[in-house]
Amino acid sequence: MAVRLSVNLNKVALIRNARGSNHPDLIQFAKDCEEFGAQGITVHPRPDERHVRYNDLQPLKDIVTTEFNIEGNPTPEFIAHVLAVKPHQVTLVPDAPDALTSDAGWDTIKYNAFLKDVISQFKQHDIRVSLFIDPDNDLIAGAKDVGADRIEFYTGPYADNYFVDKEKAIKPFVEAAKYCHSIKMGINAGHDLNLDNLNYFCSEVPYLQEVSIGHALISDALYYGISNVLAMYLYQINKTR
Ligand code: PXP
Repeated sequence: MAVRLSVNLNKVALIRNARGSNHPDLIQFAKDCEEFGAQGITVHPRPDERHVRYNDLQPLKDIVTTEFNIEGNPTPEFIAHVLAVKPHQVTLVPDAPDALTSDAGWDTIKYNAFLKDVISQFKQHDIRVSLFIDPDNDLIAGAKDVGADRIEFYTGPYADNYFVDKEKAIKPFVEAAKYCHSIKMGINAGHDLNLDNLNYFCSEVPYLQEVSIGHALISDALYYGISNVLAMYLYQINKTR
């Protein structure tokens, strides 16, 4: 099963927002990413709209031909925007409004009632729901119980420890992925994946369906250009070790 690459465009929007004009053009960039091989487009609108803005969502939905994934904390405002746009997938993330970036997964046990309620709203509109989560079987069972279709592994800790001890860093993800498969839970992954650590993650973690990558990929594009970078990331995802 090939792992799909969804490109997170938040950093492209951040550069655009810095000057108040439409350069770089987020919509054109999304189209180009797809042309160069991206199999999905991800955005993560945050309450302060410092990256992607809520009014970017519909224009993106209109042109994405692969898979459109919107991530974020399910505040009433976020839920209303996602239901209006109806992306293929929504990834729910428990990040604080002022978070620099997402830095933890859901406690699916503590937030059981809240997540059940929110997820049922998305499911009524046929939107696939993924929950950002740490590789922990109890939390994954909790994700199943609240009705999630997939989980997105928070891979920050893996990336942090990759150069320290990659076998140890990958182990919880391999174990948790096997558990996901046994309960028919789909698997995505993201955060801090890059050209160094991506191939090992994709080749070791079974049943992985999608990775979403933003910061490193867009940073690499400053050096190599986005068409080359997409080829480089796709190569790392697909090559056998
Ligand atoms: N997944 C989630 C839930 C995120 O919040 C982010 C960052 O916006 C990513 C994946 C992508 O992380 P990175 O930008 O480090 O590739």
